[in-house]
Amino acid sequence: MSSAVAAPATTTTVPDITAIQARLDETIADLLVSLPDPAQLTVDQRRGLIARYAAVLEGNFIYWMTGAYLAAGSDQARAKIADNLREEVRDCHPGMMRRFAMAADALPTAVDTQAVSDDLMKVRLFIGRLSPVPIVVTMAFFEGFIQKFMPYLAELAQRQGSAEMEYTDVHGVCDITHTEELFRALDAEMALARPVADGAMFEGVDLLRSLLQTIVFNN
Ligand SMILES: [Fe+2]
Repeated sequence: MSSAVAAPATTTTVPDITAIQARLDETIADLLVSLPDPAQLTVDQRRGLIARYAAVLEGNFIYWMTGAYLAAGSDQARAKIADNLREEVRDCHPGMMRRFAMAADALPTAVDTQAVSDDLMKVRLFIGRLSPVPIVVTMAFFEGFIQKFMPYLAELAQRQGSAEMEYTDVHGVCDITHTEELFRALDAEMALARPVADGAMFEGVDLLRSLLQTIVFNN
């Protein structure tokens, strides 16, 4: 006779990889469709959007990826994140970001930095909690968004008279293999971690989406 005891019933909803990817795709699509037409923006609105984006990305992307690396427990996730970090550092992506903003005459001012400050702090504090699965989900969302956002960002810069497109060229490449590897890494991470409830799973995504909306709409 077995002495095994059935696991207690739980009300925790654990989304699977397909559901997570679908939700991230939907969130990204909603953000993209909400972007204002660059032709309708004033010079200063375009400058501000690029400047707020640079104020967030230049100093934070590597920091957030490092948080994901420290939080991840699976070899697959750590290897995938390490590849990303290596490229960021080796090719000096913060320098690329800076050149992009400078060429569009959109280096962040104190006003731009202040505009994103509150939302940025919330994302920083979330990253600091080093929750393995939610942090990897957040970075998967961010990478997916950045890649699809690049043509828009490039158009803003072109309308500002810039021809410096290395940042948007490098980050706009649609790399299917990379995305698949990223979600396999997430799968490995989920197998290792305790189940994460739906709300906690997307906490970082929601905070980052708010930050991106502030970058775009300055509200
Ligand atoms: Fe980068």
